[in-house]
Amino acid sequence: MAHPATTNSSNRRSLCSYLALVLSHVIFVVAENGEPTAIRISCGSSHNSLITEQSYLWLKDFGYTGGSSAPIDAKITGAPQLTTLRYFQVSDGPENCYNITVPYGHYLIRFVFAYGDIDNSNREPQFDVSLEGTLVHSLKPGWSAEFDMSCVDSLVFINDGAATACFHSSGHGNPAVVSLEILQIHNLAYEILVPSNKYTILKTVKRISCSAISSGYGADFNADPWGGNRRWVTDNGLTKGTSDQLRTSKSIQNCCGAPNFYPEIIYQSASTTGIGASLYYTFDIEPNQNYSIWLHFAEISDVIVSKEQRVFDILVNDRLIFTDIDIISLAGGPFTALVLNKTVLVEGRTLNLTFRPVQRGILVNAVEIYQVISMEFVTTECEVWSLQALKHSLGLPSRIGWNGDPCVPQEHPWNGLDCSFNVKGGSWSIVGLDLHDQGLKGQIGGAISSLSQLRSVNMSSNSIYGEIPAQVGNLYYLAVLDLSFNNLNGSIPDGIGKLKHLQKLYLNGNHLSGKIPISLLAGPIRGASFNFSENTGLCGIPGLPSCGFSLTAGTTTGIIFGAITVAVLVLACFLCLWRRRSNIIRSRRSLRQAPFAKSRTSLKKRDLQLTRTYVGGHLRSSSFEKSPPLLY
Ligand SMILES: *[C@@H]1O[C@H](CO)[C@@H](O)[C@H](O)[C@H]1NC(C)=O
Ligand SMILES: *[C@@H]1O[C@H](CO)[C@@H](O)[C@H](O)[C@H]1NC(C)=O
Ligand SMILES: *[C@@H]1O[C@H](CO)[C@@H](O)[C@H](O)[C@H]1NC(C)=O
Ligand SMILES: *[C@@H]1O[C@H](CO)[C@@H](O)[C@H](O)[C@H]1NC(C)=O
Ligand SMILES: *[C@@H]1O[C@H](CO)[C@@H](O)[C@H](O)[C@H]1NC(C)=O
Ligand SMILES: *[C@@H]1O[C@H](CO)[C@@H](O)[C@H](O)[C@H]1NC(C)=O
Ligand SMILES: *[C@@H]1O[C@H](CO)[C@@H](O)[C@H](O)[C@H]1NC(C)=O
Repeated sequence: MAHPATTNSSNRRSLCSYLALVLSHVIFVVAENGEPTAIRISCGSSHNSLITEQSYLWLKDFGYTGGSSAPIDAKITGAPQLTTLRYFQVSDGPENCYNITVPYGHYLIRFVFAYGDIDNSNREPQFDVSLEGTLVHSLKPGWSAEFDMSCVDSLVFINDGAATACFHSSGHGNPAVVSLEILQIHNLAYEILVPSNKYTILKTVKRISCSAISSGYGADFNADPWGGNRRWVTDNGLTKGTSDQLRTSKSIQNCCGAPNFYPEIIYQSASTTGIGASLYYTFDIEPNQNYSIWLHFAEISDVIVSKEQRVFDILVNDRLIFTDIDIISLAGGPFTALVLNKTVLVEGRTLNLTFRPVQRGILVNAVEIYQVISMEFVTTECEVWSLQALKHSLGLPSRIGWNGDPCVPQEHPWNGLDCSFNVKGGSWSIVGLDLHDQGLKGQIGGAISSLSQLRSVNMSSNSIYGEIPAQVGNLYYLAVLDLSFNNLNGSIPDGIGKLKHLQKLYLNGNHLSGKIPISLLAGPIRGASFNFSENTGLCGIPGLPSCGFSLTAGTTTGIIFGAITVAVLVLACFLCLWRRRSNIIRSRRSLRQAPFAKSRTSLKKRDLQLTRTYVGGHLRSSSFEKSPPLLY
């Protein structure tokens, strides 16, 4: 998941992060006075529904790239108001997305998934989920059996004006989504990286309220809406080792403010152990990832009232992460909240969180485990625009997809693309485009020239029509261009001959016409391999008709007629000039012979005119105009 960060781009990021931090403070001043942005979409639903007891508005489905809607047969535990889903079949393409406009900010984004057996295949779908181009979740076999496995959330900064959530099919069943919530949280919530988590996603692995009577959302627990309505699950069945439940109704000090806005209730219950007994939780996790662990304590036992009465160590997979934790000492008193956080790299597939007593037994109120995911660098913006234009002009069928970001998540690039990471720019670029034999019936379009890193294009065996855009000549690195067996017409753009890296140019099997550009034959790419055959109108190289013979009768007549006209005109001019020249010579001779000629004016006028014509109207004519008075 780690991406090829570079010194350059980290510099860029630190600057950006710094600016973002400054900005986030500015924005927060505004935001604190208002309500957080909250968008709740009931996927597949055709009407808005207001849930009065929570005063939530579940919006009808919008902002999606495709798919179909279906009712869910069984009601979803924990989300009974959701009765429809949106699902994506093979014909909808391998990736489908929601693109929802939201202001800059930090968000909790939650999905609820369900398999409603909409396709009657009894095949639980397996698919991947990405946010902002970064893979955050994989639905593994068995996920649909438990609500907690199908309700997943992540904390992410949205800084491009729209939250993009995509579902990537793995070919096992139809991805389906019941709801999507985009809930704004405090910009500094769960900050583990200073100055900001801006390029990090925290994906919730588990959020436990120990010994809670039942699982529930922040709103169920009267939490501040800026907390993102996090879901807390009870640890019934999760604790390993013997534990007891402890609850209180007394209020808790220091528990519930900015930036994380915890609900007070999570501190009012705890799991405890007797003297000397450990308490531990195990979580199934992705190996070799960083996990951010947040632990919540408040001494709520009536027995433990002062420092040094309860002391314990905390370990992750037998590695100490905190030693000698004394809740009362660290929190400043009983019934006072204490939050500890630590980020650890976990190698195996299990995260074993152990509380080991030093003095008496254990007490723990809540546990949060987040997977720390570095956000992917995305594709160069103008290349995304260019591909979208190409998708449109080529009329790409929806089964090919092309939704979300072209190159990321790296596990799921768009069909037919080869991407390469541009270290200098800190973004992805398209280097290869292979859409051969896809039944395409559109045009190529000049926008392709923005894919400036393209090395190879293969669009052979489609029904692409229109002309080869001249802009192809701007694809400096292009080495392979295979447009064979399409319906392309017009002539081969001259610019192709300037592509000095070109090695293969296959244009055979089209309706191209005109002369093969000289630049292709004499330019820097003479060694390249060409195929121009099976184009009725092309001419000009050995193996193709010679250009003269391919002229139509009409054109030939035109050319001959034109040539005759030109010849006649040239002859006429020549005769005319010859005559005028003789006139001048004659008149000069007559001037010399008769200096006091009578008809001077008319002579002068005619001579002047003649001279102008003769010397092309240069100043010399005026000296001739002046000179006659000397003759008086
Ligand atoms: C997503 O929405 C934003 C803002 O409305 C828009 O600028 C962007 O082009 C959209 N992206 C896609 C892939 O449709
Ligand atoms: C885990 O965090 C460390 C320290 O921030 C970092 O160097 C490392 O690349 C991270 N590992 C993964 C897999 O993200
Ligand atoms: C997280 O822990 C670090 C020390 O490990 C501490 O400096 C930081 O303040 C803690 N953050 C919160 C929000 O408690
Ligand atoms: C977790 O740790 C506890 C105590 O150290 C140990 O008894 C247990 O076997 C461990 N579980 C796993 C799955 O490693
Ligand atoms: C284009 O794709 C077709 C089908 O795979 C292949 O036969 C052809 O060789 C490719 N063209 C080039 C230039 O590689
Ligand atoms: C190419 O074909 C299109 C129709 O597909 C036609 O409109 C256009 O005029 C043709 N261009 C040339 C140069 O023949
Ligand atoms: C050029 O393409 C034609 C089919 O259009 C094929 O028969 C011929 O072998 C190709 N020539 C070369 C040199 O590849």
